[in-house]
Amino acid sequence: MASDSITRSAWRHLAGLAARPGAHDIRALFAADPDRPRRFSAVLGDMTLDFSKTAIDGHSLVGLLDLAHEAGLDGFRQRLFAGAMVNPTEGRAAMHMALRSHAGDGMMALDEHASASAAGERERMAAFVAAVHDGRLCGASGLTFDTVLNIGIGGSDLGPLMATEALTLARGGRMRARFLSNVDGTGAAAVMRELDPARTLVLVASKTFTTDETMTNARAIRGWIAGALGEAAVAMHFAALSTNLPAVAGFGIAAERVFGFRDWVGGRFSLWSPVGLSIALAAGWEQFQAMLDGGRHMDAHFREADFADNLPVLLALVGIWHVNIMGYGQQCVLAYDDRLRRFPAFLQQLEMESNGKSVGLDGAPVEGRTCPVIFGEPGTNAQHSFMQLVHQGTSPVPVDFILAAVPDHDRAEAHRILAANALAQAAALLRGKALDEVVAEMRAARVAEADIARIAPHRVFVGNRPSTTILFERLDAFTLGRLIALYEHKVAVQGFLWGVNSFDQWGVELGKVLAKGILPDLQPGAAVGGHDASTVALIGRFRALRGDA
Ligand code: F6P
Repeated sequence: MASDSITRSAWRHLAGLAARPGAHDIRALFAADPDRPRRFSAVLGDMTLDFSKTAIDGHSLVGLLDLAHEAGLDGFRQRLFAGAMVNPTEGRAAMHMALRSHAGDGMMALDEHASASAAGERERMAAFVAAVHDGRLCGASGLTFDTVLNIGIGGSDLGPLMATEALTLARGGRMRARFLSNVDGTGAAAVMRELDPARTLVLVASKTFTTDETMTNARAIRGWIAGALGEAAVAMHFAALSTNLPAVAGFGIAAERVFGFRDWVGGRFSLWSPVGLSIALAAGWEQFQAMLDGGRHMDAHFREADFADNLPVLLALVGIWHVNIMGYGQQCVLAYDDRLRRFPAFLQQLEMESNGKSVGLDGAPVEGRTCPVIFGEPGTNAQHSFMQLVHQGTSPVPVDFILAAVPDHDRAEAHRILAANALAQAAALLRGKALDEVVAEMRAARVAEADIARIAPHRVFVGNRPSTTILFERLDAFTLGRLIALYEHKVAVQGFLWGVNSFDQWGVELGKVLAKGILPDLQPGAAVGGHDASTVALIGRFRALRGDA
């Protein structure tokens, strides 16, 4: 965490507030102040962030806002939007906001005109999408494309997949979209089995164009297209989304089919860039543009609003309160919306790859906890699986509930049931159920006293478990953009307050390197060595099971 003496005292002050008797008693806070929902929420248009169901009170909110001010969050925000080098370990700006800006917004990334370069590439993307949709660009056998296949992993998969589902699940799309990410050959085999090569447009999405999984899959799918339609078809069926233009050329994709972006776009922030081409092809250009507009709207809010009214800042501070002051190590995200079923997976990369770090910007170990473990599933499904632990497990797990008031289907009663469950889960976590309530209920149901004594403790809910609710009118493309940018900025604020670099990801490197060393040892007959004893034994067992010992 940021650690000069002023911010140290702000952290200490917060810890002191949390140590007051009764400071964790959210129910008591509501009893003392029924106006909490108004005082502990922030509004942006139709979007409400309600954090009243946390143990944050007036004093701790002031303490958290003071921490943000004293740590210099305002200066960080200005440097971020000025395109300064906020990613010093890679020598880069983090200017994904330029991807959703207008050409005239004039955003810079270091000394590059980021808004202008992003707008230029966006025009090329729009023209490509229009040409695919109206059939001017078609496959080698003259058939129009009906499927877009995105090959990519991590940020080159999770964002596009999540957003494509969010925008097409309710209303359908312009094209079918498939996403091939894992190097597990099952995925590529399924694509080859299920798709028609003549009608499939393949996007190879890779910022670096060196990622093993993506390149392995891209080569397999290239072979499939060439095998079915001839080598010349590759040029007509492939496009690439990358910062590494020489490597793309080496793969054989023509320059006019390459959509580029710059190193100031981190992979997990890249769905707004050409990496989002699958979203635009599947959902339509208007939807993609509306998503960008929503992101831009949240940028303006984050950039301009006072911290006390600023949704990303408040969401970040609520998280800081839970992680650093209350000591909770997990964060659950429950979107009561099937369209957001991949949102937790997207957030896992966004939050954990950004802030899952233990060394600060100064190279020294950070003093407190950083990113919690993020997990989630759509509600209500989660209620029938892991919510048992969230209600009755040994440690509180803060939950973000996400809900649209108006669905994009005409099953109004189903949506009311869905919403009732979202609200009820948050209410149950807060309220709990005391032993005397359980006993009274069982007595009223004429349960035998011996059974009451045996079973009642198992039916107690301690309550006082925190949650935050994000409620908006409908999950249209604009709101999807706002929601994603809300979490992006939350992550940047938290990373700043923790004193880590949110924009690098060195922690993914070691495993990649070791995999390269293990790969040859999995060949039949290869000598195995240079690994720890467990790994050597597992390699031996693996080869024995394959008959390759
Ligand atoms: O290994 C992690 C990572 O570098 C992510 O940060 C990134 O989103 C993913 O791999 C894919 O990288 P690329 O887009 O360069 O293929």
